[in-house]
Amino acid sequence: MPATTELDHRYQSAKATLAQRGQEHVLRWWEGLAPNDRDSLLTDVESIPWDILGSLIHTHVLATPTRNIPQDLRPAEVHPAEPQAKFTKKYDDARKLGRQLLTEGRVAAFTVAGGQGTRLGVDGPKGEVEVTPAGGRTLFQIFGETVLAARRRYGCAIPWYVMTSPANHDATVACFARNGYFGLPPEDVVLFPQGMLPALDFDGKLLLSDKHRIAMAPDGHGGSLKALAKNRALADMCKRGIEIISYFQVDNPLAKPFDPLFLGLHADTGSEMSTKVTRKADDLERVGNVCVQDGRVVVIEYSDFPDVYAHATHADGSRKFDAGNIAIHLLDVAFVDRLVGQSLQLPFRRAEKKVAFVDASGERVEPKSPNAVKLEMFVFDAIGLARNPLLLEVDRAEEFSPVKNATGVDSLETAKRDQTSRACRWLEAAGVSVPRKPDGQPDLTIAMAPSFALEAADVAENIDRVPKLKPRDTVVLT
Ligand code: UTP
Repeated sequence: MPATTELDHRYQSAKATLAQRGQEHVLRWWEGLAPNDRDSLLTDVESIPWDILGSLIHTHVLATPTRNIPQDLRPAEVHPAEPQAKFTKKYDDARKLGRQLLTEGRVAAFTVAGGQGTRLGVDGPKGEVEVTPAGGRTLFQIFGETVLAARRRYGCAIPWYVMTSPANHDATVACFARNGYFGLPPEDVVLFPQGMLPALDFDGKLLLSDKHRIAMAPDGHGGSLKALAKNRALADMCKRGIEIISYFQVDNPLAKPFDPLFLGLHADTGSEMSTKVTRKADDLERVGNVCVQDGRVVVIEYSDFPDVYAHATHADGSRKFDAGNIAIHLLDVAFVDRLVGQSLQLPFRRAEKKVAFVDASGERVEPKSPNAVKLEMFVFDAIGLARNPLLLEVDRAEEFSPVKNATGVDSLETAKRDQTSRACRWLEAAGVSVPRKPDGQPDLTIAMAPSFALEAADVAENIDRVPKLKPRDTVVLT
């Protein structure tokens, strides 16, 4: 078909689709658009999953979905970080099994990096943010070096899958290329974009971010399951003999994707999806609460968690619902394949956000308050669908310090502080003397690269590379 005829054909089809759904305004600026811009606009229209959008507008945009107050919740059974004496052997065996799974090449790393990083306020991929307390390493670099160190340790080609979004995909690919794939063979690093959904105004109308673009947003980290299948990453995993996906988020520099204990317990219990949890910092901490409802493990967001449960205590006064989700999961490839094959539909969540748009007069508007609904799926909603889900408690200080905000709680500042603190604890456990302030905080800055130590026990092997640590030093251990 000649190019103009093809474009016209697509235009007629888009026009009919939009008219049928009361969204004709999307083509308002068509006459003045250059051919390339017309193509972009049609591509946006064609990418929209119209089959689900219509009903979502009714249930999640025009109406606010009624939240059922969770009833009959019970605390979930959690494997403790330190086992009781009678389970020591079980944990030791699990560690052995985990190492075996890694050595046999049955585990892949999977980073979700498709988010918009709005709270942090970065332009471009969050993974490019320099996050180490010294040495200027980025989040992507830390994880790249972690995968590299694990490949060396286990003598096996562990692949790394990274989910981007259409908004940051090209920038992420360029970053990986510029950095030589962080020393990894490019064929073992698989980058693919997640799905997008349009943002809608409160009347359920599509917004234009430009005269030729529909305002779209990533469909949440829950979109990763469909995206793995759609981009043939699942098929690629099967070809490589991968059985377990180690899922973690791009904004947590303390994540340990290759934890033999977690892997071994997951495999040993026949769990299809496992999750690491930490004890909550306080009753109302802003984390998902991992509990049991109707015999299924569920994660209930802090905003939906009734006070009566949040403040509930055991007879000894300890917190009853104390398992906080830290977004570190293991998923069986076969489980994801099954869910996706069954036309998996994780529930959508409504979030009201500020979305810039072009108004009817062609002016760009930067709203000062939320003007639109974004729709997202959350990966933890898959836990309730898994057989034998396993929960493992870990020490937050060792594994979780997310970079969410520009300042304050969960910011770059706290993530850098927590990396130094962990490095100091690991050094002290190996007998190194670390200068500390009177309040016990480290009196220096230390960045410890994954090539130096993947876990605390590795420090002893490299002890001769540690200089004498003096107050207010800045040290990078590689
Ligand atoms: P957050 O929900 O914290 O979102 O994502 P964010 O995009 O990083 O930051 P805000 O909310 O805009 O400030 C947690 C993790 O899930 C990934 C993010 O990249 C981050 O690793 N994520 C989130 C996706 O991969 N896709 C999404 O659609 C949403």
